[in-house]
Amino acid sequence: MKNNLILATTISTLFAITTMNAQKKTYLDKTKPIEERIDLLMKQMTLDEKVGQMNQYNGFWEVTGPAPKGGDAETKYEHLRKGWVGSMLSVRGAKNVKAVQKIAVEETRLGIPLIIGFDVIHGYKTLSPIPLAEAASWDLEAIKKSAQVAADEASAAGINWTFGPMVDVARDARWGRVMEGSGEDPFLGSKIAVARINGFQGEKVEDLLNVNTIAACAKHFAAYGFAEAGKEYNTVDISNSTLYNVVLPPFKAANDAGVRTYMNSFNILNGVPATGSSFLQRDILKEKWKFNGFVVSDWASVREMVNHGFAKDAADATAKAVIAGSDMDMEAHYYVAELVNLVKSGKVKESLIDDAVHRILRVKFELGLFDDPYKYCNEAREKAVIGSKTNNNVVLDMAKKSIVLLKNENNLLPLKKSGQKIALIGALANDKNSPLGSWRIASDDNTAVSVLEGMQQYKDNQLTFEKGTDVTIGKTTFVDELVFNTTDKSGFEAAKNIAKGADVVVMVLGEHGFQTGEGRSRTDLNLPGNQQELLEEIYKINPNIVLVLNNGRPLSIPWASEKIPAIVEAWQLGTQTGNAVAQVLYGDYNPSGKLPMSFPRNVGQCPIYYNNYNTGRPVNSDKNVFWSHYTDVEKTPLFPFGFGLSYTTFDYKNLKLNKVTFVKGETIEVSVEVTNSGNYDGKEVVQLYLHDVAASLARPVKELKGFELVKLKKGETKTITLTLTDKELGFFDNDGNYLVESGTFKIMVGGSSDRGLESSFELK
Ligand code: BGC
Repeated sequence: MKNNLILATTISTLFAITTMNAQKKTYLDKTKPIEERIDLLMKQMTLDEKVGQMNQYNGFWEVTGPAPKGGDAETKYEHLRKGWVGSMLSVRGAKNVKAVQKIAVEETRLGIPLIIGFDVIHGYKTLSPIPLAEAASWDLEAIKKSAQVAADEASAAGINWTFGPMVDVARDARWGRVMEGSGEDPFLGSKIAVARINGFQGEKVEDLLNVNTIAACAKHFAAYGFAEAGKEYNTVDISNSTLYNVVLPPFKAANDAGVRTYMNSFNILNGVPATGSSFLQRDILKEKWKFNGFVVSDWASVREMVNHGFAKDAADATAKAVIAGSDMDMEAHYYVAELVNLVKSGKVKESLIDDAVHRILRVKFELGLFDDPYKYCNEAREKAVIGSKTNNNVVLDMAKKSIVLLKNENNLLPLKKSGQKIALIGALANDKNSPLGSWRIASDDNTAVSVLEGMQQYKDNQLTFEKGTDVTIGKTTFVDELVFNTTDKSGFEAAKNIAKGADVVVMVLGEHGFQTGEGRSRTDLNLPGNQQELLEEIYKINPNIVLVLNNGRPLSIPWASEKIPAIVEAWQLGTQTGNAVAQVLYGDYNPSGKLPMSFPRNVGQCPIYYNNYNTGRPVNSDKNVFWSHYTDVEKTPLFPFGFGLSYTTFDYKNLKLNKVTFVKGETIEVSVEVTNSGNYDGKEVVQLYLHDVAASLARPVKELKGFELVKLKKGETKTITLTLTDKELGFFDNDGNYLVESGTFKIMVGGSSDRGLESSFELK
């Protein structure tokens, strides 16, 4: 009897194992459609395992050694082995990723591979310019290539998911994260979002199966860029019109381009934390836009809903986040602790868990992780790809294209290549760290080519260098507040000495690399520390100055813009910074960048942006104070959106429309002749702005609705045709409905948002 029982138990266990293996095999069957494979797998998953897929942990570093002992890491390790972790972030390196992946695949019951996320924001190790700088290129092909390089290197280091692109429209230079986005314009921002997504993921979902592509993440959904007063993590309180017409378009473009994930945001939007917003995540993203990938929370944003006063405790925050459509919990550790009980007690429907898990598994299948969980863990490939010459060439090209020439009086630039005495001044000129920007976790410190090194390659000039003044004092790190040098001016004299006898002084001034980015809001947009004083002192001695700006946000530099004859906006250009700057200064590359964000005259103008609404009193018609202006400074920006010079000049003429009256649905063709009228071959960004003169909701004074980057040899003329369709003519009402209304539209075509040829047409 006993023997029979044992036999029966053994047979049933064997049967269970065989059945499970058979089931396992079926979902691993590559020939089956992904949706079927997901269903087959989900049928076998327990509630704990499903919730595990929704849990994301930050990496721990003991993975390649023995199991970690104690604390957070030990818990994470245990959870990983139980199948309670669906994703990890910031584990990197083929060997490390393989170690964690091995635990997930070989030690858990179902062997579901992890998706490995990382902030590959402007490159992995070989860094491109910061995203705001790349946006200044208006060169979508170059931006796509730059993202391809980032994906190439990250995927070789075990990563298969980047937390990029950041597509937050931002109008306030005080906010430190403006460096991470594409600036103030939703149209340009949408185009760039698509370019970056195509660069990371490829053009179609099947491209994710390639070993050098990674899933992208449009973040931060939504409206994080509108933090009040530019203060990090601050309240966002905006109109529906701004939400639908300014904030959401780049996110929508990302969805149309097939972005596989979204990240929600830290902020509340009109009273509701984005992480707990069904309106954003369910109604708009998943229902209206039919997004079928998954949403990850921002770091601990599920937990932060308690601080916002929107949830009373961990369980409440978890329920609210899941019900609102936040599929994966990044580092709050709340889902893993609370969600199973919430489902068991009926507070959260299991169907919501199923939906979230389905989405997460879908992306894992699309990446090919079930077919080859170690596909990104090839150490030989890692060695060959990271830091390759080809990748360095791509980021160099991107860096040159990102530079914006803001001023060039008397053709001080380009510099002569020989016979000149050049004094190079400024601590940032000899800085190999700051140009890497603040999102550069996987890059090694001090690996940028400095401006000094770049300029030293032009050997036929006599180059001397003095730092003049340090920007910061003490050790600088990614997490700590910087301390600025406002006292030590001991280097001024030496700098003045080299300026004295120089033909030209090149001064590299601006922000420290860790002065922009997350947690780095400012209320002062001037040159930090002693740099303004140094600039003025040197100017007294030798005014023949080329000011090269290094910064991650628009700066207010009214004194410099008036006095200094040449100003080059060189942002933080990444690994190849010095080479790019030198090639532009010496004329081996003719700059063509245009500002993606307005530069204010002073911080009091912020937020300042070109596509503002008109006021009832826009001009000073009565010659008194009662018009929309400031009493102490002009109301225009110092440098407007879309502005940027070249070593050559461009003339615009013959702006034409193919008709003067159109009916809705027709394509409007706008053509213009552009001539390179100067002495260098060059590139120009031809920009088309539109204004809907009278509409059912007030429309901005102008909005970018088309652009083309045009190459013109000196003396050459080209006719550029830009088209407008209903997609560009309409706007969203306060309920999110898209309207195209009849009436008069004005257009302006030119090389900047503040000037151009004008015309108009009627829409019937
Ligand atoms: C940032 C995100 C980032 C995440 C993971 C958060 O603090 O807001 O943009 O992707 O950390 O590093």
